[in-house]
Amino acid sequence: MVVYLVGAGPGDPDLITLKAVKILKNADVVIYDRLANDEILKYAENANLIYVGKKAGEHYKTQDEINQILIDEAKNYERVVRLKGGDPFVFGRGGEEILALLKENIPVETVPGVTSAVGVPTSVGLPVTHRGVATSLTIVTGHEDPTKSEKQVKWDFKADTIIILMGVGRLDDNTRELMKYRDPKTPVCVIENGTMPNERIITGTLENITRKDVKSPALVIVGRVVDVFQRIQR
Ligand SMILES: C[S@@+](CC[C@H](N)C(=O)[O-])C[C@H]1O[C@@H](n2cnc3c(N)ncnc32)[C@H](O)[C@@H]1O
Repeated sequence: MVVYLVGAGPGDPDLITLKAVKILKNADVVIYDRLANDEILKYAENANLIYVGKKAGEHYKTQDEINQILIDEAKNYERVVRLKGGDPFVFGRGGEEILALLKENIPVETVPGVTSAVGVPTSVGLPVTHRGVATSLTIVTGHEDPTKSEKQVKWDFKADTIIILMGVGRLDDNTRELMKYRDPKTPVCVIENGTMPNERIITGTLENITRKDVKSPALVIVGRVVDVFQRIQR
């Protein structure tokens, strides 16, 4: 038995790795999330498919339940694939799943995926670093677990570029926090459904982006690299 923790990439099925495809072809079971493009599942031609995806505010399975499914399937099958959108370790809770499996002495192999955090901006031609403009970037959740007793996200980041995942639901709060430390005119780009046919790109500034209609799943990119992107687009 082995569990492969595999990144599926940001959406476009062509952005999955060859290694992930090889593993899917030999899988006995694939346990997958909503964000992984369903087309990718065609590679898992001989596998049982188990959907454990979650929607915002409507949990289909708790993380503990998912961990238990992984453990049970690994005890019954040789090759179990845990397929996750983007990269399994970028806000993917992959670390929690590995720890739960290792506790049961189940071996795990990890396969990186193209994370939406960087893959989506690159796919539209938005450089997340740019010589003379941005030499550092922060990737942050815009939806910190509200049950945490103390907030870990302080929003006073020093990095030039800020990339917010899961940032649509609280865009108002997040931009207000950022404006405590940054110019309200700082450029912002929101990319909805990046790399997918229904992709949408919305640009604005910290002070006006919330007036535009943005929908999840989306990335929020904050910083002067958005100006570079607009120059590249022209
Ligand atoms: C739970 S996180 C998982 C991230 C994933 N592990 C990764 O590396 O891309 C989900 C968030 O990723 C971002 N996201 C994932 N796929 C996206 C896409 N195709 N376009 C825009 N944002 C995306 C959104 O911010 C979404 O709310």
